[in-house]
Amino acid sequence: MSGAEARDAATAQAAALRADALAGFSASPKTLPCKWLYDAEGSRLFEAITRLPEYYPTRTELRILAESGSDIACAVGPGAAVVEFGPGDGTKAVQLLGALTAPAAYLPVDIAPEWLDAAATRVAVAFPRLKVRPVVADFALPFDLAGRAAGSTTHLGFFPGSTIGNFEREGALAFLRRARASLRAGSRMLLGADLVKDVAVLEAAYDDAAGVTAAFNLNLLARLNREAGTDFDPGSFRHAARWNCRLERMEMHLVSLREQSVRLAGRVFRFAEGESIHTESSHKYRPDRLRELVQAAGWRPARMWTDPEQLFSVWLLEA
Ligand code: AVI
Repeated sequence: MSGAEARDAATAQAAALRADALAGFSASPKTLPCKWLYDAEGSRLFEAITRLPEYYPTRTELRILAESGSDIACAVGPGAAVVEFGPGDGTKAVQLLGALTAPAAYLPVDIAPEWLDAAATRVAVAFPRLKVRPVVADFALPFDLAGRAAGSTTHLGFFPGSTIGNFEREGALAFLRRARASLRAGSRMLLGADLVKDVAVLEAAYDDAAGVTAAFNLNLLARLNREAGTDFDPGSFRHAARWNCRLERMEMHLVSLREQSVRLAGRVFRFAEGESIHTESSHKYRPDRLRELVQAAGWRPARMWTDPEQLFSVWLLEA
């Protein structure tokens, strides 16, 4: 990307953030889409979260992929091209590709080229003879993979990490339908989904003792000040992680510590003491609800693997 293109992209991104903030702060309760948590600092903090003792999802999913790897490989069969949606640093892909029988290719899909590079490099180093074909695309929109990885019989979609849980139901259905349409006919999908569990375990995972998740959430205010021109005082908000038992989801909020006003694009938004901005939902699933969700999106849940404590689940879906 040239310097001018990078500047245009940054300007467009700032305009989109401002528009989402104007809409979200006008809503009641106030809200902001969780994708804005991931600027460079937010992404760094998220990587740190995945290594925290309280944040069980990442290590548990890796453990399932390691311990059930040969069973997963048998169920998937040989020669699949793995298409990973939002590959992160590629760690989970390395674990999966190492278990599968003769995978044909690895196709990480992400809108952010820097993430694609990180994942593609890690996989290429681990499997020097594997075809690695990064795809720059926004998987929140329809895209076409039909012509990629010629020679392989089927695609295996891979969507780990319970990122599906960050969507509301309609968004999750839309993603699952789009993924089915984007992959070759007859393809399958390996989906990671976090399970409903003891509330104390969930609350600790989203409000760790070292304060990394709090820093991750509060970083959003610094980003808004820098990119959207707000005048938040980040010190006058605190991080809160709440279990919503009706919707079976963890919610992150930024709670105002006092009555205050914040300026944005010539408008003033008032916060009462204790009022919050809802910044992320992380839905947790009971197996029956996950089955119902994927079926409503046209997938057949074929197999499910979990860990001995049943903290997390990995599903094989058939189109
Ligand atoms: C990326 N996503 C699946 C994480 C989650 O658990 O919902 C993001 C996260 N938020 C707080 N901690 C981790």
